[in-house]
Amino acid sequence: MLNRLYIAILALQLILTLLSHTVQSSSDHPQIAPIPSPWPERFHALLYMNLSSSKLQISNLWYDWPKGRNVNIIQKQLGVLLYDIEWNNGTSFYYTLGSHGTCMTTQFEVGILRPDFLDGAKYVGTAVTDGFLCNVWEKVDFIWYYEDVLTNRPVRWDFYDDCN
Ligand SMILES: *[C@@H]1O[C@H](CO)[C@@H](O)[C@H](O)[C@H]1NC(C)=O
Ligand SMILES: *[C@@H]1O[C@H](CO)[C@@H](O)[C@H](O)[C@H]1NC(C)=O
Repeated sequence: MLNRLYIAILALQLILTLLSHTVQSSSDHPQIAPIPSPWPERFHALLYMNLSSSKLQISNLWYDWPKGRNVNIIQKQLGVLLYDIEWNNGTSFYYTLGSHGTCMTTQFEVGILRPDFLDGAKYVGTAVTDGFLCNVWEKVDFIWYYEDVLTNRPVRWDFYDDCN
């Protein structure tokens, strides 16, 4: 049975610490579909995630493209902190701390997301999500990405993963 994993992430308080986004004025060229802003090469974001299992979790993400790594510190409701260290060579380490600490290694075929991973995404128009007017793009029927029209900051992304 296909267990479809649905993940919606609302980055309500996305904190882009190291690089500021240049605001693109899409109204200058109304005839051209907007393109998604590339991610800064380094940032910290706080993600609120609603998984298909209806489980909720908070993830602190530190993205570091120049060093080829992602650090996620994930916490489910009343849960322990799960550390997820992802490297660009596809290796990920998952561990928890404390007397019942656990450790796991996984090898993925791909590394971390490139800052321009949304290149080639299809613009599907604007939508309001959680009170933000957003431009929305879709890529390979997998990612729906919402970016605030005013600030070009990511507000939400939904993705579907059939692997699980
Ligand atoms: C989580 O997602 C489900 C399915 O889309 C939705 O019904 C539910 O309201 C969401 N819960 C929260 C707390 O956002
Ligand atoms: C990937 O890089 C990390 C960090 O340098 C390292 O610990 C890990 O062993 C590497 N994985 C492979 C398959 O080389």
